[in-house]
Amino acid sequence: MSGPLQLAGRAGDLQGIKADVAIAYRLRGDTGIVGPVGAPLAARLLEVAREDRFHGRPGKLHLWHLPGEDGTGFRRLLLLGLGSREDLTLERYRRELGDAFVEADRLGATSVAVPLLAGEGLPFEPGAAARALAEGLVLGTYRFDRYRSEPRPGRRHLKQVLVAAGGSPVRQVDAGLARGETLANATNFARDLVNEPAGVLTPARMAEIAQEAARTAGIDITVLGPDEMRSMGMGGILGIAQGSQQPPRLIHLVYRPATRPARRIALVGKGLTFDSGGLSLKTADGMETMKCDMAGAASVLATLCALPEFGPAVEVHGVMGMAENMPGGAAIRPGDVVKIMNGKTVEVRNTDAEGRVVLADCLSFVSRLDGVDTAIDLATLTGACVVALGPMACGVMGNDRPLVDEILRAAEAAGEAMWPLPLYSEYREHIRSDIADIKNTGIRWGGAITAALFLQEFVREGLRWAHLDIAGPAFGEKEYSYLGKGGSGVGVRTLLHMLTTPA
Ligand code: BES
Ligand code: MN
Ligand code: ZN
Repeated sequence: MSGPLQLAGRAGDLQGIKADVAIAYRLRGDTGIVGPVGAPLAARLLEVAREDRFHGRPGKLHLWHLPGEDGTGFRRLLLLGLGSREDLTLERYRRELGDAFVEADRLGATSVAVPLLAGEGLPFEPGAAARALAEGLVLGTYRFDRYRSEPRPGRRHLKQVLVAAGGSPVRQVDAGLARGETLANATNFARDLVNEPAGVLTPARMAEIAQEAARTAGIDITVLGPDEMRSMGMGGILGIAQGSQQPPRLIHLVYRPATRPARRIALVGKGLTFDSGGLSLKTADGMETMKCDMAGAASVLATLCALPEFGPAVEVHGVMGMAENMPGGAAIRPGDVVKIMNGKTVEVRNTDAEGRVVLADCLSFVSRLDGVDTAIDLATLTGACVVALGPMACGVMGNDRPLVDEILRAAEAAGEAMWPLPLYSEYREHIRSDIADIKNTGIRWGGAITAALFLQEFVREGLRWAHLDIAGPAFGEKEYSYLGKGGSGVGVRTLLHMLTTPA
């Protein structure tokens, strides 16, 4: 990871700020330069844009060397195209801005000045624009270069980013920047965990990392190993883990607010450090990126560790079911029956439908936590969800429509793509077993829904529950978002938004 970053608002215009490189924005079809740049510089920039035929197409960058001795605090400026005014969203802004910072890094800049995207008829609030700026910067310049001899351009040089606030209150801008930076750093923590190879990030290693992170963040942690699991009757996670040399772990984190909690909520993460499919072995292609099968757990850990920085009056439990799904000699066989912590038995017809079996124990576990009235699980659960919504969006299901709606609203505000899927109880018959209480696979159709219906069997009566199937967005194989390839940390920003903004 890169060194510490100083990110701060400054009163006034861009032209007065001293930096190695400045960034300014050009909207397509606009007659002016948007944002607090300063009138002389704006006029000059318009001329440059006209002369060089820079129209402001989204993502286009144009480097301009300033003549010097003209009173501006920088000698190089990157003009960034943001598309047309009508299509401008903070999401687009985050994306394009990230690439502009990468370019600034390639140019060797250690300090960058950038105007706030607010004021002058723009629809964005200063705080929201500042948050988006920080997120675009911190998420867009993230690189996972631990295993490279040469780091790629990202944030190799960058130490200081100064934001021209124009007429906006600097305090509000600084607060937005800080919030965005915290959200993005938490997301990047989850991305690091997902990107780490499965040979390194075993269940035991994940528990060590969680212990260290919990200590730093000041939250409580308990780790259960196979012996404790056995005594608690967690036959699901034990059954799935038995084909691997790596013993499973159940990690339980608790964030407790300083004051009496207004509500108690549990977050549950699927933590398969690798999913080979087990004896129902995946194809070679199918398991290429299956180190990402612990993305739900990674997002839960990152969310929990960021909570103290916001200090919400909510008690939050984080439960991560860590195991490796391998086809070793002791592996669970198709047709074997396991007993879950809540007493229900599962016929494991397909060992590749392992996540729901692990989550069954996790959901039974949170069902017994004192005073917890809401549970949200995050899981790279089904390819069917990716078929339904494509690789960008999470499917959201649950037994409580207001809770699902609350998550969808938070996702919208946080800038994550989430979409509701139905939980048709009629499909429960698809997972009826001939020899046990339930089986772990249904028919081919509606696979995301039957998986969720399976999970529901382990949610206690009266517990509000929502399930986020993150199989699509957890791991990018194409760079079609500012999150780029690899782990995305999906869910972190939505959950933090939901837990830290009063409803
Ligand atoms: N971890 C996979 C789901 C997955 C697929 C995640 C693609 C990310 C990208 C899960 O354990 C799995 O294998 N699901 C099976 C279930 C089936 C056997 C009922 C699937 O979706 O094919
Ligand atoms: Mn699987
Ligand atoms: Zn899996």
